[in-house]
Amino acid sequence: MATLNINGQSHTIDAPPDMPVLWALRDIVGLTGTKFGCGIAQCGACTVHLDGVAVRSCVLPIAAVGDKKITTIEAVGDTPAGKKVQAAWRHLDVVQCGYCQSGQVMQAASLLAQNPNPSDADIDAAMAGNICRCGTYNRIRAAVKQAAKEA
Ligand code: FES
Ligand code: FES
Repeated sequence: MATLNINGQSHTIDAPPDMPVLWALRDIVGLTGTKFGCGIAQCGACTVHLDGVAVRSCVLPIAAVGDKKITTIEAVGDTPAGKKVQAAWRHLDVVQCGYCQSGQVMQAASLLAQNPNPSDADIDAAMAGNICRCGTYNRIRAAVKQAAKEA
């Protein structure tokens, strides 16, 4: 058994300690906004926040979470940076198929929470691990910049 704080709520789940957080979120808690892409920390689709910092939930064991707070795409809009990122994403119509976009939004929100005024290089460095098969990179960069302007 493990107790996880997810989006401000406490969830006690019956799962082995080495289960990746992504599995717990999707299959046990029912939060399916966080996506499975590669399972080996290479694509960013599964990105969530741990105490506000972007992490790859596919390789994060439940046992490593402890008392830290998990935030997922379902609740990131309640954070100041997440709200601005989602507004910019909608305004610039960033999404194509959408599969990678939960992870993109989570990564961008974590960047802006830590660095409200990122340079192009900062944006590229922060977003480099989030792959988009649809190639929405230009719109992602523009949306991060727009969200930063409103910060
Ligand atoms: S599914 Fe976690 S990084 Fe690809
Ligand atoms: S929008 Fe389709 S993979 Fe990124």
